[in-house]
Amino acid sequence: MKSKNDTPKFPPMWVFNLLSGFRRFLYNLYFRLIPPNVAVFEKAQRFWIAKAIGVACELNIADIIDSGHKSIDEIAEKCDADPDSLYRLMRALASDGIFKETDKKAFINTPQSNALKEGKGSMKYMIEHQLGETNLAMLPELTNSIKTGESVAHKLFGTDIFEHLKNHPDKNELYNKAMSNTSDIFSEVFVAYYDFSGIKKLIDVGGGEGYLISRILTDYPDMQGVVFDQSHVVKTGSKIFEKFGVRDRAEAVAGSIFEEIPSGGDGYIMKNILHIFDDKTCIRILKNIKSSMPANGMVLIAETVISEDNKPEFGKLFDLQMLIGTEGGKERTLKEFENILNEAGFKLNRIIDTVSPFSIVEGII
Ligand SMILES: C[S@@+](CC[C@H](N)C(=O)[O-])C[C@H]1O[C@@H](n2cnc3c(N)ncnc32)[C@H](O)[C@@H]1O
Repeated sequence: MKSKNDTPKFPPMWVFNLLSGFRRFLYNLYFRLIPPNVAVFEKAQRFWIAKAIGVACELNIADIIDSGHKSIDEIAEKCDADPDSLYRLMRALASDGIFKETDKKAFINTPQSNALKEGKGSMKYMIEHQLGETNLAMLPELTNSIKTGESVAHKLFGTDIFEHLKNHPDKNELYNKAMSNTSDIFSEVFVAYYDFSGIKKLIDVGGGEGYLISRILTDYPDMQGVVFDQSHVVKTGSKIFEKFGVRDRAEAVAGSIFEEIPSGGDGYIMKNILHIFDDKTCIRILKNIKSSMPANGMVLIAETVISEDNKPEFGKLFDLQMLIGTEGGKERTLKEFENILNEAGFKLNRIIDTVSPFSIVEGII
């Protein structure tokens, strides 16, 4: 049963969908009103904002401002930057709601720049990873992937991306922290929109450091949980369990999803796992899960579900990252999820949308 926890309140989906539709309308209207060549140029320019956010994370600017250093000279001194150049970066970011210029050349944090600070609700490491060495090395190869349909990880690193991370502990540490950033935020959303009552033992397959399972367990005091991932990833699990106060009900198990998945769970959850694999491999993983669960078990897939229309969606861009970085991985449509679930012997029971880009696809036997 669910405990009365102080889960943050999110809007009902109908309010969120209404607002999203309105935003889409205004966005399209704006770009229809300006000349099309200006519109595409403006859109292409946005990579500068992405990179500027990455630099702000790298230089810890949001944390520096919060520690009381507000003038550009003070911030520059703290992060060892050239004040004039740093001002240009901050001005560009403030023009997009990330930091706010108060007095001439003094800055404060905004809700968005607060999300670049360390701590709860942070996106710092995810952004550093997204705009970091590994991803930026792959990005120029997008054309190559489009032409060949192949990932560029093998070409650049000689192995797939996960082997590459395993062989580079510093990159692996950043990647794991990045995944925990997303789990930290999205686990709040999942517990708000999905009712896990009735699941006695939940196994998070490819669960990283164990953030999501720990957060779910805090709301469900009768539930047991397992985080299952590669040994170099789950090794920090017990620290996370401790932090959430669920040590007595949680277990970290190391292994491979291609071999033996822990058995005995009546619920198996996978967040952002299937999108790193091609359909054949997903079916293999799902079959592996099915053989580990009882007849009343269910599998919960937390991923983006791509709509088959022209709606702007986070998943449609995320999908390009899967294209360059993984061996056949992709974001999937409802139909594509249904196909892989059916092939593995599951039935797609329902989809629960959330205010985040991720939905929960529920498969039952
Ligand atoms: C995209 S991350 C998602 C992590 C986590 N579920 C989350 O959303 O924060 C993919 C995860 O799959 C794990 N993984 C990849 N190959 C695996 C394998 N063969 N066996 C177990 N885990 C694997 C990685 O270590 C990584 O933690």
